Amino acid sequence: MKRRDFLKSAGLLAAGTALSGEVSSARAVLDITGQAENDLNDINLPIRALKADVDKAVSVIIIGAGGRGNTYAKYAEKFPESMKIVGVSDILDHRLKSLSDKHGVAPEMRFGHFREVFASGKKLADAVVISTPDDRHFEPCMKALELGYDVLLEKPCAQTEKECRAILAQAKKYNRIVAVCHVLRYSPYFIAMREVLRSGAIGELVSIQHMEPIQYAHMAHSYVRGNWRSSKETTPIILAKSCHDLDMLRWLIDRPCKSIVADGSLHLFKAENAPEGAPLKCTDGCPHEATCPYSAIDIYVRKKAHLHVFDLDGSQDPEQIMARLKDPSYDNYARCVYHCDNDQPDHYVTEMVFEGGKTAAFSMEAFTPTGGRRTRIMGTTGYIEGDGTKFTVTDFRTRRQQVWNKKISDIPEYRGSGHGGGDLALARDFVEAVAHQDPSRLSSTIDASIESHVMGFAAERSRKSGRKEKVKV
Ligand SMILES: NC(=O)c1ccc[n+]([C@@H]2O[C@H](COP(=O)([O-])OP(=O)(O)OC[C@H]3O[C@@H](n4cnc5c(N)ncnc54)[C@H](O)[C@@H]3O)[C@@H](O)[C@H]2O)c1
Repeated sequence: MKRRDFLKSAGLLAAGTALSGEVSSARAVLDITGQAENDLNDINLPIRALKADVDKAVSVIIIGAGGRGNTYAKYAEKFPESMKIVGVSDILDHRLKSLSDKHGVAPEMRFGHFREVFASGKKLADAVVISTPDDRHFEPCMKALELGYDVLLEKPCAQTEKECRAILAQAKKYNRIVAVCHVLRYSPYFIAMREVLRSGAIGELVSIQHMEPIQYAHMAHSYVRGNWRSSKETTPIILAKSCHDLDMLRWLIDRPCKSIVADGSLHLFKAENAPEGAPLKCTDGCPHEATCPYSAIDIYVRKKAHLHVFDLDGSQDPEQIMARLKDPSYDNYARCVYHCDNDQPDHYVTEMVFEGGKTAAFSMEAFTPTGGRRTRIMGTTGYIEGDGTKFTVTDFRTRRQQVWNKKISDIPEYRGSGHGGGDLALARDFVEAVAHQDPSRLSSTIDASIESHVMGFAAERSRKSGRKEKVKV
């Protein structure tokens, strides 16, 4: 069943309503007036079982068997009749072996560098998942498309706008499907918010305020010490971290972005702010360790956060974690946050104007106690406010408030699916799109994904130049 047909059958899309059009005419169906609190949980959503509607399993090669590669491979574990992992590529032997063994991958389909996957010049599976680091997306994606693979591509698509546009052109040239992993689009929370919006429950959308709180320890882990600390080696943080948010704003507003202006900087994590006597590593007897919120010992050994990067043997033994922090393969995570080779801003604000004069203000903030995106949507007759798990809809005329706060754990199909349920739902839609050769089964076309990347590159140009940038797609 196509997504559009599904929406229709779920009663959230009236016949004749364009999926990407203006406010849908589903208000009568949703009928939010006269219902009790929390009953937004009962609205029909285009949420369905995670098992894909396919006749035979789609065969996939995972390129990059790290965190994300394993996330998508989980879909094949749960639904082997929908997806089969037939090949794995990773430059780290233990990751290659671990994922390959789990899926019984034949020896000749175990590859090191991604170039080995394409060396024969033949197509060896239906699709590839590209979950390598940001600077290794463009080359394998272009090659995979040329050889006729459909591609599940981790975000950000590529490191430059030019490369992003080249991927779009290559997908069209070879008529292939590229699904970009904007997983939030597939999470029930954001799907519910969008459906309420499209029902007309707050009238016409006028503006959005959206905030992405990164959380102080997550910032230190990923964007100061870790893989995304350098905007040049990966991508500017507005893409590396926030391309989900730009995509989400474009998706909710459902109009093209016309201009963007951005500001922000790296305020804290630099050498000039190091407290007196702080050594280069937290593990070198730092006199501030007991009070510093960014202490590696506190984040990893005591709080046991972000441990997936340490390839632990399944235990969370403090001694083993401490040993990893002193191991040269992992000791970049022991570095003092004031003595890293980082350049990503720790606060970043953007203002966007969309077609029709609709506006969005977006802030990405490092200095917050928790994560969880916050969104406020202002409409002509009502207002939506959400905290990433729960949102409230206020109707100006009736002054009634209604709440959507359905827990992912209450939706059996979505249990164990990260990003608010989005990870495995994306995998399902991708598998169906490939099996039926029908990209409309995806929430996002490659054109829309590249459009929100173009917004990110424009934001970064604006942040650096101080000028408002036009967004030209
Ligand atoms: N969609 C999301 O919400 C989301 C979340 C986190 C990360 N990401 C993105 O996913 C990608 C992967 O992130 P991750 O956290 O899984 O990283 P990771 O470091 O855990 O995994 C990347 C893997 O790629 C392997 N690799 C590196 N070079 C390779 C090569 N030449 N050939 C084959 N394998 C190679 C590495 O050894 C590693 O195992 C990144 O681009 C990241 O930005 C997306």
